[in-house]
Amino acid sequence: MDAFRIRGGRTLGGSTTVGGSKNAALPILAAALLIPGRIFLRRVPHLRDVVTMQRVLEHLGVVAGYEDHCFQVDATELTSHEAPWDMVRRMRASIYVLGPLLARLGKARVSLPGGCAWGPRPVDLHLRGMELLGAKVSLDQGYVVAEAPKGGLRGAHISFDVSSVGATGNVMMAAVLAKGRTVIENAAREPEITALADFLIAAGAKIEGHGTTTIAIDGVEGLHPVEFENIPDRIETGTIMAAIAITGGRAHLEGVRPDQMAIVFDRLHDMGVGIEVEGRSLEVQGPERLRAIDLTTQVYPGFPTDLQAIFMALLCVADGTGVVKETIYSDRFSHVPELQRLGANIKLDGPVARVTGVPKLTGAHVLSTDLRASCAMVLGGLVAEGETIVHRVYHIDRGYERIEERLSTLGAEIDRFTEEGP
Ligand code: UD1
Repeated sequence: MDAFRIRGGRTLGGSTTVGGSKNAALPILAAALLIPGRIFLRRVPHLRDVVTMQRVLEHLGVVAGYEDHCFQVDATELTSHEAPWDMVRRMRASIYVLGPLLARLGKARVSLPGGCAWGPRPVDLHLRGMELLGAKVSLDQGYVVAEAPKGGLRGAHISFDVSSVGATGNVMMAAVLAKGRTVIENAAREPEITALADFLIAAGAKIEGHGTTTIAIDGVEGLHPVEFENIPDRIETGTIMAAIAITGGRAHLEGVRPDQMAIVFDRLHDMGVGIEVEGRSLEVQGPERLRAIDLTTQVYPGFPTDLQAIFMALLCVADGTGVVKETIYSDRFSHVPELQRLGANIKLDGPVARVTGVPKLTGAHVLSTDLRASCAMVLGGLVAEGETIVHRVYHIDRGYERIEERLSTLGAEIDRFTEEGP
């Protein structure tokens, strides 16, 4: 298993480019199932989760090729309607094939996603959405079995109790080929959902209101092949900005969508970070010492839960005390005991963490079971005195492409090595 060795204390500088969004690429790749013909998707990051989605699609009969961050997907001939457990268990987002399979083939058998490092993360809203579109949904030996009515799915009025990125995307994909109009209320407004809608529209779907909490979809007979460029990853953008900030460095970031980063820029600004925006690039200047702030995670355009762990790493060395409230996943705190191993002062009380900055962290062995939490360890390691070893970095590889090389380019002392053991 791979690990990172980090020697803290380097100030980051130089320039790097942000990769394509993982959380937009995954549903867009699943949406390719709706289209007979070849699609091209550019700016797809080379990540384990993307490879998992490719394997799921190939299992369904899709011919997929990936070169130089461009994905070609041809779903002309689908040979299966089943996404097996062994694939789905590797990545929860595999559930995204449910809506497209139901819409295109009229049936789907998709393994229920397994447990998660922070949970519970149910899929009840996805299933309820499919039922409202007319599908018969049942559970069989850990699989969701869904069947469209004779004549195909029918447009419906769907109002979600909770704003869900995954359920909004899944229902949107199912509804584009349904008969009549579907309206999704309390829809997710995340940029990744907007990107999915833009992709579907480019392929001939009729969708309005994406980017707001009410999305209307008028079903069409079929979609056509398309070429599409993915959006940049806003979580990676925030992570690299945080890495620059925590070291008090100054660096340049290319390929950013500042319009999707407002709250992250605001919070960094409140912490004393200088940000100069010019078109799609940024100059980030970390302060001598960060200032503590309070943070509450919320659905977009609120502060993203996927940056909670990373910003907690910043608070660990900031001046003062900051309170972090997690409102999306109440137990998403596996980074807390590991940051404490680096010397952080964090008091956790339910979904609220009170973080008092310390003047310095000290290198240690740390490990985590969650992608973003592992990244918080890397940030801690960048400023900790001495050596930090971050174990099990395969979690980071699920969501960040060669993060160690990119941080090295910016001047960090970090390398990957393979360690013995299970
Ligand atoms: C997506 C992101 C993930 C991010 C999360 C919240 C992808 C691949 N993953 O996950 O990185 O952390 O959004 O921004 O895009 N819920 C239900 N029932 C459901 C579905 C969700 O109760 O059927 C709840 C969840 O438990 C959670 C909330 O809704 O409390 C939001 O989850 P959701 O937006 O669905 O997250 P994901 O799409 O799984």
